[in-house]
Amino acid sequence: MSSPRSVASLSHGTGKRTLQQQRSEAVQEEKKKQPWAVGKNAALFAFFVVVLPTVMILAGVSHTPAAAATRLGWTMLGTFTARGAVQKRAEENNRCDTSVGRWVREPSVPAYTAATCPTLPDSKNCRKYGKDPGHLYWRWRPDGGCDLPRPSPARFLAAVRGKRLAFIGDSLARNQMESLLCLLSQAEAPTKVSADDDGVREWRFPAHGFTLMAITTRFLARAEEVLGGDGRPTASFDVHLDAPDPVWASRHLRELDYAVFSTGNWFFRVNYFSEGGRRVACSGCSGDADAGELADFGVAHAVRRVVRAALEATARCGSCKRGLVAFVRTYTPSHFEHGSWFDGGYCNRTRPLEEDEAPSWDQSIGWDVRRAQIEEVTSARKTTTTTRFEVLDVTKAMMLRADGHPGRHYDKRSAGGGANDCLHWCIPGPIDMWNDVLLHKIAETASPPATNLR
Ligand SMILES: *[C@@H]1O[C@H](CO)[C@@H](O)[C@H](O)[C@H]1NC(C)=O
Repeated sequence: MSSPRSVASLSHGTGKRTLQQQRSEAVQEEKKKQPWAVGKNAALFAFFVVVLPTVMILAGVSHTPAAAATRLGWTMLGTFTARGAVQKRAEENNRCDTSVGRWVREPSVPAYTAATCPTLPDSKNCRKYGKDPGHLYWRWRPDGGCDLPRPSPARFLAAVRGKRLAFIGDSLARNQMESLLCLLSQAEAPTKVSADDDGVREWRFPAHGFTLMAITTRFLARAEEVLGGDGRPTASFDVHLDAPDPVWASRHLRELDYAVFSTGNWFFRVNYFSEGGRRVACSGCSGDADAGELADFGVAHAVRRVVRAALEATARCGSCKRGLVAFVRTYTPSHFEHGSWFDGGYCNRTRPLEEDEAPSWDQSIGWDVRRAQIEEVTSARKTTTTTRFEVLDVTKAMMLRADGHPGRHYDKRSAGGGANDCLHWCIPGPIDMWNDVLLHKIAETASPPATNLR
């Protein structure tokens, strides 16, 4: 699996403008999250500029020029909205936006080590295979003065006591689970519940009644390998955009308190898309004989459709727990340079990219994928009051971490000879930050403690 469009190989752009764009985007998102704020201002406007002057005129104060009343209205409206802005700024400070920020050097010890994490898989154990440990000593500092503290394992476990959390997605979802297992192992040793038969892994922390799962689904939707003329599977998939993968949707969703959806990297190959059982589009297929008249959706649009279907299925899930919180973890790119997974690409940088070393990050397909994912969460929020939808927006942070992959320093037994892994993340490593954000959000959305569990 590979996505050769590495951020480092993109053409140049202007970093300053793009940051501003991103900020205004964040402001837009904030507005969407708080429609009441806009509605309240509109109501105040209507009252002071339209209703109040009208009432004054009708009440016989007709000698008062309407203009004066209107002026009064404007003044009072100004006072109210200024107060609203102050209050809103305070709220924004409380709701720390962890999606924008920068990596700062932090000469402290990593969150954990291989010695404290017996479950750490060899393929991500970068130190063991000789990787320079430089990638461990960076911390993501969000802009705007808010802090993203590293959660203590005990605090995390206390917050999820009695709950069940699943990472639902491809091998990067599993990667996040592996990071969380290592983090939590310091407080309690997990026990493995299920073998990896149907792509579902399950661990329990018995003293806390907490269950952690990784459910493998490459596309979130049902997908089959496309067979070639010789009857053998090709590299392409037929993805059923409107059909959530039953491995999570039918079997496990109803058990969950927290679902963390992610997808993206498998869309960067030639794929075909079906709706209602009929092929309707493709991605990357132009010039392909099989494609015929099919429209090329492109990666971001295809991801949008499967995320929408997943969130709709979650919102509609009648048998799901009340208070289910569904997260979408946004797309993270690979960092192959001078090639891809299959033809000698590598990633041997030893420090995070500076913003101007990843100049057009916000014009990349990966950024479009992120935007589509966030927009779908925003729309899903409007459809339900029982499920909470949240975003783990890690795209920008991870775009800069070209140094955080196993690269050539991973277990050669599984490498099939020579390939570099510039897609998954070392643990310990920058992926630990995804779980810092996760706990931050879980604490933020904390519902009253569940009483019916355990
Ligand atoms: C990365 O690998 C390339 C090709 O082998 C080499 O030229 C370069 O010096 C390496 N960079 C680092 C930082 O090791």
